[in-house]
Parts: sequence; structure tokens; C-alpha cells
Amino acid sequence: MIVLGIETSCDDTGIAIYHSTRGLLGHGLYSQTLIHSDYGGVVPELASRDHIRHILPILKQTLKSTNIKLENLHAIAFTQGPGLAGALLVGASFASALSFALKIPAIGVHHLEGHLFSPFLSTKPPLFPFIALLISGGHTQLMEVHNVGQYKLLGETVDDAAGEAFDKTAKLLGLGYPGGPALSKLADAFSMSGKKNNFLLPRPMLHSGNLNFSFSGLKTAVLTLSNKYKMTQKIKMEIAHAFQEAVIDVLTKKSIEALKQTGINQLVVAGGVSANKRLRENLANHTKKMGTSIFYPRQEFCTDNGAMIALAGSLRLQKNSQLIKNNFTVKPRWDLKEYEIESNK
Ligand code: KG4
Ligand code: ZN
Repeated sequence: MIVLGIETSCDDTGIAIYHSTRGLLGHGLYSQTLIHSDYGGVVPELASRDHIRHILPILKQTLKSTNIKLENLHAIAFTQGPGLAGALLVGASFASALSFALKIPAIGVHHLEGHLFSPFLSTKPPLFPFIALLISGGHTQLMEVHNVGQYKLLGETVDDAAGEAFDKTAKLLGLGYPGGPALSKLADAFSMSGKKNNFLLPRPMLHSGNLNFSFSGLKTAVLTLSNKYKMTQKIKMEIAHAFQEAVIDVLTKKSIEALKQTGINQLVVAGGVSANKRLRENLANHTKKMGTSIFYPRQEFCTDNGAMIALAGSLRLQKNSQLIKNNFTVKPRWDLKEYEIESNK
């Protein structure tokens, strides 16, 4: 079974071709970062227009590099939501047109399910059940995953997502957009210097007694510091480091709590923030004695891409091909729970 994957939920145009037994055959990605950086965030209308410009050339390129013809495809998986309505519509209409022309199903995939299974693109995927820490620009969730479409939400952010907090803090430090990777680089540079950090930021909701998160207060704490001190490069590095340590401490401790509460010893960490080196290092250090196996996507598949959508579509297809309906709707706001209920009807 060969599935084409299409991702256009935000500012990355991703296309991939996935073979259900041979794995990922190839993929292409175009990032719109440069277009949006002047505005300090994603401009939805510009995002939609740019997806239109790039989707066909990337498809052609991916077909060529994989030596696959359109007629070889068995299904098309596209991100149906959540995301920016206009951007999603580009992928949905493109997928629907192709599916009508080729007479093959178009599968609407939930973006978070794509992230959730992105480590399955690697050679040694986890077995069910596992705990998933989903940390992206729009979501921060801890979940118990029992199978494709069988999820139990254990906790989530009550305000900003982890990636959003990285981006907003980076903006305060003048690091551009999206600032997550730049902030992390600055924080790591401070660590390497071996100097003592004079700043200690709060660990929000660490002792809340549940598995929820809150990150908006951290951004305010950084704003207070940035108003108080002259923003020299040294101070910026120190603040970046203090911020990263606070976020990582909370993400690590809540993940460990989820593993302990459920007795599950496999952890999947996915979404853009899973690319963070310091997080990976901290999780490894703190779970060493627990015998936990941790699974990450490959670096290139941490942030948005078409490969994870093709894979999620392929998993859905294998689970129940009867469920696949051709539809041309998008769901800019879409709870993973609703998706699960709809698909198990
Ligand atoms: O999963 P993703 O591509 O988009 C959403 O679905 O939201 O995640 C993007 C987010 C951005 O907020 C970006 O700043 C963050 O992931 N990010 C990072 C790192 N790389 C990407 N945050 C911290 N450290 C990184 N190395
Ligand atoms: Zn994403």
C-alpha cells in the first residue's frame, strides 16, 4: 500500500510517499520561515498563498525522486486539522482533487496524530501501550496511547503551549521568529561556558497534583527581567538558559509522574520542541534508573512534515479501510478526542 502525505496546517508545505511495508520512500519540505519572520509570526493569508505556490512542485519533485507515478498511489492522507483554515484548505482541496482524478480515497488526518506516530518513521518504534509527551507550537499534552485511535489524555497546558512559550520568550529577547531553536542555542552556549546562572525562574504547576502545565507566567517573568536589566548578550544568554531549564524541568518531572502513575515504561516525545537537545539529555538522565525507553522522531521529523501525515494515514488505512470517507472539509479547531470518537463510530 502506497500513501501520499500532504501537510499544510501552518507554515510548512510537506509532501511524502510512504509504503506500508517498505517504510518512507521519500519526502519534500518547504519552510515559509523567511516569509513570516518580518512579521514576527505566521501571517495566515501569506501562508495559504505560499502553500499554493509550492505544493505542486514539491509533489512533482517527490514523485521523481522516489520513482513513483501518481497511478501507483493507493490513498492520499492530508492534514484536516487543527491549524490555519486557509492553509488547511490548500492541502484538503489538493488532496480531494487528486483523489477524484485517481479514484483513490483521501484520508483526513489529525495533525497531532501525525506528530504522535512520527517516531514510527524510525527503525525501532515503541510497542503499545506508551506514554506520549506532545510538545509543539500549538499543543502540550501528556497521553496514554493504547493503539491507533485509542488515547487517554492525562494532562495538558492550561494556557500557552511549550513551543509557543519558547517563541514568545525568544521574541522578548530579540531572537526573531520562530525563536525556539535560537533561544535553545543561546541557552546551550551559556551551559557550555560553565558559569553560574544568577537567575532562577519559577517552575509553574510543578506541584499542582495533576499532569497539567502552564507556561504563560514564565514569559511574564522573563518580561519583568528584561525590563529590569540592560539586555546585554550575557544577560540574554543567562535568561535564555534560566527559561529553558524551567520548561525542561517541568516537562521532565510531569512525564516521569505520568510513567509512574500508569506503570508504563515507554515514553514517546514528539512535536517541534522534541528537537531540543537539553530536554533529551535531561529526560535520559532522570529516567536512567527507571529503565524507561524513550522514543523521538528523527530531527527532521520533529517539526511539521508530510512524512508523519503519510504514516498516520497508512496506519488508519490498515486499521480500518471502511472508515475512509472522501471529504473536503477542514477542521481548524479539532480535539484529538473528537477524532478518536468519530473514527471509532
Ligand atoms: O510541531 P511544530 O513544527 O508545529 C506545531 O505543530 O505547532 O512545532 C514548532 C515549535 C515552535 O514553537 C518552535 O519554536 C519549537 O517547535 N521548536 C523548538 C526547538 N525546535 C523547534 N523549541 C525548543 N527547542 C528547539 N530546539
Ligand atoms: Zn505540528
